[in-house]
Amino acid sequence: MHTKFSIATLGSQPETLAALSDLIIDTVANGGSVSFMHPLAPEQAQAFWQASLAAADRGERVILGAYDGPLLISTVTLLLDCPPNQPHRAEIAKMMTRMQYRGQGAARMLLQEAERIAAERGKTLLTLDTAEDEGAAGLYDKMGYHRTGVIPDFALKPYGGLTGTIIYWKKIGRM
Ligand SMILES: CC(C)(COP(=O)(O)OP(=O)(O)OC[C@H]1O[C@@H](n2cnc3c(N)ncnc32)[C@H](O)[C@@H]1OP(=O)(O)O)[C@@H](O)C(=O)NCCC(=O)NCCS
Repeated sequence: MHTKFSIATLGSQPETLAALSDLIIDTVANGGSVSFMHPLAPEQAQAFWQASLAAADRGERVILGAYDGPLLISTVTLLLDCPPNQPHRAEIAKMMTRMQYRGQGAARMLLQEAERIAAERGKTLLTLDTAEDEGAAGLYDKMGYHRTGVIPDFALKPYGGLTGTIIYWKKIGRM
């Protein structure tokens, strides 16, 4: 089922910026906890991705996209620029799939590719956090991530009301 999507490493081309902005606006509007409140203004979405893509261009992170033909349907970010005393660690962030493409394996495919790239860069530990309410906990549980615990009342949900965040970790590559 996964093979119908292609994966690409994203850089700061105008069409990529537009597609990522559209995707995060769609995600927030559907209640996804990805740092922003609904309604997410296009300028705010673009400013976020512009800075993120610039960081990717500098090699500080890798932004992956899954495509159905020309349409960007899912993305994940691998944050590589951890502090000097954590050169072995990377973080998974901004995992989201367009609403009508959910449940078709895009997130799993992207996460596997992010893990492969992280291991290739010598990373041995991945960490992430996801909202307790309507987050991606089920995905990370299935992908072998360990739950460390919950921080209560960590963030506002896109339509208001607090949610806790669940902290996850996974060892990868060579120990
Ligand atoms: C979480 C999210 C990215 C999953 O995307 P997706 O492309 O639908 O996920 P996949 O189809 O690749 O799912 C892979 C597996 O994880 C499971 N899974 C995915 N999301 C899940 C969830 N929220 N709860 C329970 N299980 C989930 C799927 O059932 C699937 O299991 P299977 O392979 O046994 O069938 C998507 O629901 C989303 O964008 N959510 C809103 C944004 C968000 O909360 N992002 C997380 C920020 S950390």
